[in-house]
Order: sequence, then structure tokens, then C-alpha cells
Amino acid sequence: MSVVKGNYHHYYNKRDDLEERMGFFQSLWFESKVCLDIGCNDGLITAEIAQRYRPEFITGIDFDKFLIESAESRLKRARYNLAKEKVNIPLPISSINRFTPRSVKIKRATHTTAPSNAAIDEKSVTTTSSSISSMDSSPISESSCGRIYPENIAFQKKDVFELTESSGGRYDVILCLSVTKWIHLNGGDDGLLTFFDKVLSLLKVSGIFILEYQPWKSYKKRKDLTPQMEENYHKIHLLPNTFEQVLLVDYGFELLEKRYSEESASGFRRPILALRKTDRTQGRTSKIETESNSIDCLEVQKNC
Ligand SMILES: C[S@@+](CC[C@H](N)C(=O)[O-])C[C@H]1O[C@@H](n2cnc3c(N)ncnc32)[C@H](O)[C@@H]1O
Repeated sequence: MSVVKGNYHHYYNKRDDLEERMGFFQSLWFESKVCLDIGCNDGLITAEIAQRYRPEFITGIDFDKFLIESAESRLKRARYNLAKEKVNIPLPISSINRFTPRSVKIKRATHTTAPSNAAIDEKSVTTTSSSISSMDSSPISESSCGRIYPENIAFQKKDVFELTESSGGRYDVILCLSVTKWIHLNGGDDGLLTFFDKVLSLLKVSGIFILEYQPWKSYKKRKDLTPQMEENYHKIHLLPNTFEQVLLVDYGFELLEKRYSEESASGFRRPILALRKTDRTQGRTSKIETESNSIDCLEVQKNC
């Protein structure tokens, strides 16, 4: 299998730092928000976020068809389990009040969130067993959010560069976890900056960009996968340890959180940044436009 864009199959069999990465995220960033996970692989992290932090909606995209099919199978299983639990859900407490021993009533009451008299809807039903523990740890109340997992998530086979921008941006949160190395090696500095521009245009003002990037030393191992990647590798000036500066100074993002660390022995403890788009944030394109506008203005002034 060729992994020229990092499209590892069974990636999470070897990547075992899920809890550590989830620990960096704050539920407030996602609660009731519209989110995009770029390069979601088979959707493990996307699904965990959808379950634990209850975004309004999260879309995972990946250019690899097989990975998106696996991600969709995960959702099918979750929907099937949910439907099964709905069938098995106990009757409302009020209807079993008279003839059920007290011990049974208490046990049932702790295993369902169904209200005593209301019709059973999706919000009131407990979901898959894995999601129960995750959702129990979340402090979000039922009323503060809309759809819940797996109705708040979808996957799409798409290359990030095919996404079309809408003016003003459409996402509150964009995740890009361990994807930049692949974009950088395949597209060089220009490809990477085009990617940052794309993120910017898709993000709402005040939206959050969560970026986990691979350090420079890990590029070397992958540079020979294609002649183009090798050529790009040798031309790269924008080293990963400068991404933070570029995004803060040149793009005008504001830093919310960062975790800086050396890679672990398994190679998976990577720096993560959470950055907020401000009204000062602008991409290369707008900067180039602004610069050329200002040159025009200067020339006009000189002519005057
Ligand atoms: C190393 S995996 C990381 C998966 C996941 N984000 C995580 O950190 O757990 C990189 C993923 O990015 C995807 N990818 C790389 N370039 C992409 C692009 N231009 N558009 C969409 N997906 C891309 C690959 O297919 C792969 O699944």
C-alpha cells in the first residue's frame, strides 16, 4: 500500500495515544459547535469528539476512500447498537410503578435517561456502551445541545484542497492532526501555505484551529516515497518549529493553548497548538493583495 499522503490503514493499531490527545482538547471548544476534522483517517478521533464533547456537528474528511468507508462502518455499528438499545429500553418508570419491586426500579432508573412520562426520543436514550462512559464524563446538559452521537457526525471522501470556501467561513473549529507533514512533503512550502490559507477561509472569526504537527526530523524518513517529495524536502524553508510564529505573526492568529514536547519513543507525542482566528487574521492571498494595493497607493501618491 502506498502511503504518500500518510493514508495509513489500521493507523490506530499502532497509534495508542488517544487519551493523551483527547486530554489536550477542552470540551468548551466543541460544545454545540460546527467542526471539521481534516485528514480524519478512519474517524476514531472524530467519533470520540462527537461522543464526548457533543458538537452541533462534526465532519471528518479524508482523501482515502478505504479509510472513509471504515469510518462510515463505525457509524453504522453505532447506529445499529443505538437502535438495538432503543428496542430493549425499559418501559417508563410510571408504567411499572405498581408491581415492580423497589430494587428493580432503582436499577432501571440508573440505566436509562428516559424521562418518566415523555415519549422516548434520541436525546433521552442511552447510546452505545463505549459512548456511555464518555458521555457520563461530560458535564453538558441535554438541553444545551442538539443532535447527539451518532447523529452529529458525518464522513466525506475529500481532499482538503477541494473544499470550497464560503465568505465569512463556516466552521467554528477545524482540526488538523498529524497531516501537515504530508501536505508539506507533497506540496512544498507553497502547498503548506495554501493549506493554511484554506483553513483560514473555512474558519469563522473567533473560530479555533487545532494543529498537531510532525517535527522536522520525522520528514526525513518519508522524503523518498516519491521523486516529487524528495525534491520538495530539499527546498523546504518553513520548518515545522516556525509554524507557530508564522500563524501568530504573519496570519494574525491568537494562541489559546499549546503543548510542546519532544517526540516519545513511539514517535507520537507531538506538539499541538490551539489558535483562535481574530479579526486581524488574514491569509497570504489577502496579504499579497494588501501589499500590492499599498504599492499601487504609494505609486499613486508619488505620481501625485
Ligand atoms: C497520519 S494520518 C493522521 C490521522 C488523524 N488525523 C490522527 O491524527 O489521528 C494523516 C491522514 O491525513 C490524510 N490526508 C493527507 N493529506 C490529505 C489531504 N490533502 N486531504 C485530506 N486528507 C488528507 C491521510 O489520508 C491520513 O489519513
